[in-house]
Amino acid sequence: MLKKLLHRKAMDQFVADREEPEHRLKKTLGPVDVTAIGIGGIIGAGIFATIGTAAAGDPTRPGAGPGLILSFIVTGIACGFAALCYAEFAAMIPVSGSAYTYAYATLGELVAWIIGWDLIIEYAVGNVAVAISWSNYFKTLVSGFGIIIPDWLSTDYRTAARIPGLFDTAPHIFGVPVVFNVLAFGIVALITIVLVIGIRESATTNTMMVLLKLVVLGFFVLVGWSYTKLDNFHPFLPNGWAGVHTGAAIVFFAYIGFDAVSTVAEETRDPARNMPIGIIGSLVISTIIYIVVAAVFTGIVPYNVLRQKLATEQAEPLTMALQYANIQKWGNLFVGIVAFGSVVAHTAVLLVFQLGQPRIFFSMARDGLLPRSFAKVHPRFRTPHVTTILTGVAVGVCAMLTSIDEMVNLTNIGTLFAFILVCIGILILRRREPERPRAFKTPWVPLIPILGVFSCLYLMLGLPWITWVRFGLWLVAGMVVYFSYGFRRSGLVRGPRVENTESSRNMKR
Ligand code: ALA
Repeated sequence: MLKKLLHRKAMDQFVADREEPEHRLKKTLGPVDVTAIGIGGIIGAGIFATIGTAAAGDPTRPGAGPGLILSFIVTGIACGFAALCYAEFAAMIPVSGSAYTYAYATLGELVAWIIGWDLIIEYAVGNVAVAISWSNYFKTLVSGFGIIIPDWLSTDYRTAARIPGLFDTAPHIFGVPVVFNVLAFGIVALITIVLVIGIRESATTNTMMVLLKLVVLGFFVLVGWSYTKLDNFHPFLPNGWAGVHTGAAIVFFAYIGFDAVSTVAEETRDPARNMPIGIIGSLVISTIIYIVVAAVFTGIVPYNVLRQKLATEQAEPLTMALQYANIQKWGNLFVGIVAFGSVVAHTAVLLVFQLGQPRIFFSMARDGLLPRSFAKVHPRFRTPHVTTILTGVAVGVCAMLTSIDEMVNLTNIGTLFAFILVCIGILILRRREPERPRAFKTPWVPLIPILGVFSCLYLMLGLPWITWVRFGLWLVAGMVVYFSYGFRRSGLVRGPRVENTESSRNMKR
């Protein structure tokens, strides 16, 4: 049994699977596309929403205040270590399963399953948070046109509980206020429909959305810059390093996505060169942008004001900062522009992750760890409709019922765990197969992967205990599923690899 659990799939087999004509995806993406896909997945709810909690804290955690800038630097460095490890793997095993595939090649089937299961948290739970944040900015945007969406249709129950008077405005059934974030559900449903029908133009659409979000963040910085006050940077660390640590653990969410670049490895030209460019390039560009935006944001709104506002209102940090700046001329227009850019940025993230999740399911189904129907392709639209709809329904329902902070924490712990396993994978593979050709080599091994492991662990320790409990339960559930299904059915355990009836040959981006 132990042998089965530790059974590794040979790296050459992954590459061979991918090269079989009936399993081959079309290679169309170049370095700019993959970097744009990275930025498309990275810049979203993290910078537009979670920086509020990271700076202000919440009733149970200290915030970073202006030290948010340090939080972004700390997390950026931790992600840098992981990105270098991802780049080595993605260049060496350019197949669509990302960390799941790397674990299968290095750490064996059980760990591969754990990672695959864990990536559901990163992609699907992450998108729950993004959808919630989308709904908040969308509400701000349309309010500029005089359309007021009732809070009870755009808030979850727990958030509603902390906003004075919100329950009074909601309809009641048997005396219980009815509060659902129908708006968040709506955007997920829409994205799911688009993805099922097929998005042939996805790379171009994504590049356009990426450009727009960069322009809007640049706009925020340019407009906000003159409203920053040096006084707001004192004290720089209102809660000492503890605040910076908490902030770093929260803003980690803003960085998630550079690893999603690796899910399109099979569709990338010259992945040995373009994967490292996409992964590291998108991370570096986003880090620089985040540090500047954090400086302007905390420079405009004093820490105490921020704390008070976020505790009692459903305020969106960047538009709130511009409202606080009280810009006389064009002020409302500026708020509208940022809200619009934010809605677009969130939509891009939703697309990248809703697109990535089915690809990971697809790789797992190809290895027999999930049912074959998970790799089915729609006969007419030629998209992986089963997993796309499954993901859409799960994400949509959760987005309707949960609060963004809970989902961000869970996403962060799950993704950090995956990063740790990827760093460990590099260490193991360098020992086991030192001679294997590596188109991109993580520098200073073993130092960089070891630093990656410890820095990710450090960020995990900044998350609340309840998040650890939830994550533990999720892993236990994963074990139950594995031992009752995947363990017996996986292609390796059964001998010949499971064939897909409808394969990725037909899958269109
Ligand atoms: N990094 C992505 C975001 O911030 C998940 O929305």
